Amino acid sequence: MEYTAKDSINRERMPRHVAIIMDGNGRWAKQHGLVRMLGHRQGVETVHNITEAAAELGIKYLTLYAFSTENWNRPQQEVDALMELLVDTIAKETDTLMKNNVRLLTIGDLSRLPKKAEEKFRGCMAQTAGNTGLKLVIALSYSARWEIIRAVKQMSNEVKEGKLRIEDINEETVSEHLTTAGIPDPDLLIRTSGELRISNFLLWQSAYSELYFTPCLWPDFTVEEFYKALLDYQSRERRFGKTSEQLLSDQKKY
Ligand code: FPP
Repeated sequence: MEYTAKDSINRERMPRHVAIIMDGNGRWAKQHGLVRMLGHRQGVETVHNITEAAAELGIKYLTLYAFSTENWNRPQQEVDALMELLVDTIAKETDTLMKNNVRLLTIGDLSRLPKKAEEKFRGCMAQTAGNTGLKLVIALSYSARWEIIRAVKQMSNEVKEGKLRIEDINEETVSEHLTTAGIPDPDLLIRTSGELRISNFLLWQSAYSELYFTPCLWPDFTVEEFYKALLDYQSRERRFGKTSEQLLSDQKKY
């Protein structure tokens, strides 16, 4: 039998939450002499395969950066086509989500989406709300700075209304006011296409995430590449600011 990185993955040390910046659809299309939209279409295939693999491995949360606040500035034709693709994909994939016990969640400013897209996502979230397996979190019209500003405004209002005391504001309070409230911070953050940037994605939540960059363009990011990223993650020591010695003695205590 052929070797697959999957065989080396330690199921006891899976990241609970993997977040992915899916990048490189446009360049993939260009490489293949195709229009950009066909790159995005191919990217949907990767979304399908990676979601399935994550569910199968028992990963609890998979967050995908599908559309950033800044993406609204792309040519109108591409924005419209991407919105249509998102609606089509959700319509086509809802049955698969149900079959695989996957729950769909979204983060971002859903109200900025065209009505039809917003309704489709809300419908799918309601339909899959009872599923208990993987939580697939799609970031739509999302940017970390947008979400932090929104959280600051909400907290300020609560202070003004006497519902929150300034001295009680801590990390937990801020986390609870982000659109990711209730979702654990990502353990592993992957970006495809060779760009070495975070691009306004989960800035607060990725404070201690392990970062993994691959030159692979998103449509070329196979399940095998995903396994390699997980293996790389498992080879790292997560210290959260502590020393290796402290971590060892912590382990002995439990
Ligand atoms: C980045 O590639 C990709 C996007 C902005 C869109 C990604 C969206 C999908 C793959 C559809 C996802 C669907 C669901 C339901 C989650 P790029 O266009 O920035 O590529 P480039 O940098 O090579 O131009």
